[in-house]
Amino acid sequence: MRINRKRLEESMEALGRIGETPRGGLTRLALSDEDRHGRDLLVGWMRGAGLQVSVDQMGNIFGLRPGTEALPPVFMGSHADSVPTGGKYDGQLGVLCALEAIRSLDDEGRRTRHPVGMIIFTNEEGARFQPAMVGSGVMAGKIPLEDAYNARDRDGKRLGEELERIGYIGPEPCIPRPMRAYLELHIEQGPILEEEQVPVGVVEGIVAISWSRLTLHGVQDHAGPTPMRMRHDALVAAAEVVSGVREIPRQIRGNMVATVGRLDVTPNIPNAIPGRVTMSIDLRDPDEHNLSRAVGMVDRLVKAEARREGVTYELEHYWRVPRTAFDAEVVNTVERAAKSLGCGHRRILSGAGHDAQYMAAIAPTGMIFVPSRAGRSHCEEELTPMDDVEHGANTLLLAAAELAGA
Ligand code: GLV
Ligand code: MN
Ligand code: MN
Repeated sequence: MRINRKRLEESMEALGRIGETPRGGLTRLALSDEDRHGRDLLVGWMRGAGLQVSVDQMGNIFGLRPGTEALPPVFMGSHADSVPTGGKYDGQLGVLCALEAIRSLDDEGRRTRHPVGMIIFTNEEGARFQPAMVGSGVMAGKIPLEDAYNARDRDGKRLGEELERIGYIGPEPCIPRPMRAYLELHIEQGPILEEEQVPVGVVEGIVAISWSRLTLHGVQDHAGPTPMRMRHDALVAAAEVVSGVREIPRQIRGNMVATVGRLDVTPNIPNAIPGRVTMSIDLRDPDEHNLSRAVGMVDRLVKAEARREGVTYELEHYWRVPRTAFDAEVVNTVERAAKSLGCGHRRILSGAGHDAQYMAAIAPTGMIFVPSRAGRSHCEEELTPMDDVEHGANTLLLAAAELAGA
């Protein structure tokens, strides 16, 4: 039993055109018009494949292929939203490989004891609405539905209203449902598989993640007449914090990473001293204890730099996802599937967050990685060679079929 490579490639191309950027990347922000068009296309394909489609209160989309017995389903899935000027593989590939696996079961006339289904999760990226992985987070009971609905984008638009606007607030409650297993195929987004020329990563777990929001309040004033001694510049304090955050992984040692990815400066004009800066701080570590130490270091860093510049601040550590270990049986099944294909594979830990991280709290969960060219993602250059995609998709198909009792 194998997937149909040509059909998968065609659906990748068709979905990749929705939100395509001039440089061949993708901007399909959560709950944008592009997201709606992508969802509509996917739902049409799911119905075309005979799946029973439903949508929950968070806009998560489910498609189900019945099994021969009344048993909990095996779900495969990922997300179809992207970051701005992102790539055509992050998320989208997992959704399309799930669909392709189901289509392939149909081609072969393969019945399974457990139903087999797919899920398209809402706002995995957290680019437009924070935090990330919100569709799976609500489903797993880790994020209250009302908090998710109340998240606002830069223009002040509420997630709940945007979900309604694009027609994807469904009637089904967004709560844990019985699952035999959850499987997610994704690009690695790091360099390991490509460097080692291994097409399939058997993912054992995901690092712990912490997101913080810092707002620095300085004194907005004229850039000309205000002497240097009188300034309380929010951006100067922010710059010191950016440098300090960069130093934290060096001090912690090991595999920690730390990123300031977002900076909003007010009033953001050439001739005013910045009065206010809001920034994001993203910290990740395989070790929960290191992550907690790093959060404490951020607290002290911000306090010291704010005092030095004479500015006030609010610092909120608003999102934390623990280090996640995937289910041993599911991981072993993925490994066996890759092995039976005769393709190279290795165990690997994910440095990126995925819906699988929340799903692991409510279902036996595992992931399959395929290589990222030059290790790059969250950029327009994202690329996975089609041979690797095919190995990954076949691994997904065989693992899902085994778990579903084909
Ligand atoms: C999701 O893309 C993440 O932030 O890891
Ligand atoms: Mn992703
Ligand atoms: Mn992503």
